Amino acid sequence: MRTQVAIIGAGPAGLLLGQLLTKQGIDNVILERQTGEYVLGRIRAGVVEKGAADLLDAAGVGARMHREGLIHDGIEVAFGGERHRINFRELVGKSVIVYGQTEITRDLMEGRAAAGAPTIYEAEDVSLHDITGDKPRVRYKKDGAEHEIACDYIAGCDGYHGVSRKSIPDSVLRSFERVYPFGWLGILVEKPPVSDELIYASHERGFALCSMRSHTRSRLYIQCSLEDRVEDWSDERFYAELKRRLDGDAVARLQEGPSFEKSIAPLRSFVAEPMRHGRLFLAGDAAHIVPPTGAKGLNLAASDVYYLWRALSEFYKQGSKASIDAYSARALARVWKAERFSWWMTSMLHRFPDSSGFEQKMQQAELAYLVSSPAAMTSLAENYVGLPY
Ligand code: APR
Ligand code: PHB
Repeated sequence: MRTQVAIIGAGPAGLLLGQLLTKQGIDNVILERQTGEYVLGRIRAGVVEKGAADLLDAAGVGARMHREGLIHDGIEVAFGGERHRINFRELVGKSVIVYGQTEITRDLMEGRAAAGAPTIYEAEDVSLHDITGDKPRVRYKKDGAEHEIACDYIAGCDGYHGVSRKSIPDSVLRSFERVYPFGWLGILVEKPPVSDELIYASHERGFALCSMRSHTRSRLYIQCSLEDRVEDWSDERFYAELKRRLDGDAVARLQEGPSFEKSIAPLRSFVAEPMRHGRLFLAGDAAHIVPPTGAKGLNLAASDVYYLWRALSEFYKQGSKASIDAYSARALARVWKAERFSWWMTSMLHRFPDSSGFEQKMQQAELAYLVSSPAAMTSLAENYVGLPY
């Protein structure tokens, strides 16, 4: 088989890139290790920046997001028994859309099926070959048979555990990492959200977040220990702990119901450089991970895809390789700013097990400064709604 761009991974990054390329008549094949149902079973964050929303529109899959997504003009930051609103619309004239990543993935899969572009699910043992030559190839197994795809370029959109980043030699790749000493325990529940907007709460017992998927469905999180297991946390225990970390008004408005999803996620910051090696590009979680505080994971995947889509389209339409050569530096410049923002939000809002009295005082001062200074709130707002592409 031959294609122009072989895409590894059918997560949001791979599917979005595929859809944008297909729209421009650039041939692509997606290889995915799992089944489509498995990919749709993963629950992730659900805050979409304007830039990412525009890109979904450009890919022709934004209609349901605009119909069903909730426009949020701000967030609330809670500490010391009080909530403080950060008004994005007033501070930076922008808002975000709350719409689950699972739904985005579904919309992209349906768009791809409608466009008739090929996705090979349950592709096993994917391997990349000759990525520094002119004729790269991708091999995989399907139903016991070996296959090979010849292509011009390979887009590694296969997430943190994928094969693409590992195909770049150690002598070329540099990684930067911070692992945080806690996790997030999250539940999904069929109950209306606690507030109209997301509440990010800092408490001496640990961080909590009241988010939502719709007017009738809540997504709730509490910071937990890395030793905790999901089985340790009954719904009763979860709600009791959440309520300890929220203000009185939020507790009064919290509607408890049986959770239908419960999981623990570790928190990590990670960046691999460069994001291009020969004819292989990395995009999304394959190149970087952010802690979920600030909801940048999907949005960063979208900005990588934007730069990569522009670069490939410039090459195929105008024959210029300038943006291909600039891809890694352009993507990384934005990645590092989002890494900084997610790290800062995480550091400010969580309880660190070994923090000294001084460090805790610094966190309290940071929060007090944030909600008292229009300059500080503007800085949070412009990062939360998304820095320009
Ligand atoms: N071969 C083929 N496919 C693979 C391989 C492999 N060796 N390894 C991983 N994959 C697939 C995974 O099964 C997954 O479906 O690549 C896909 C990667 O998708 P994501 O992990 O969702 O990564 P990405 O598309 O970059 O999405 C970024 O989604 O993962 C969240 O937090 C992340 O919000 C961020 C956004
Ligand atoms: C979510 O709704 O899952 C969510 C929202 C905001 C975050 C993280 C997760 O910062």
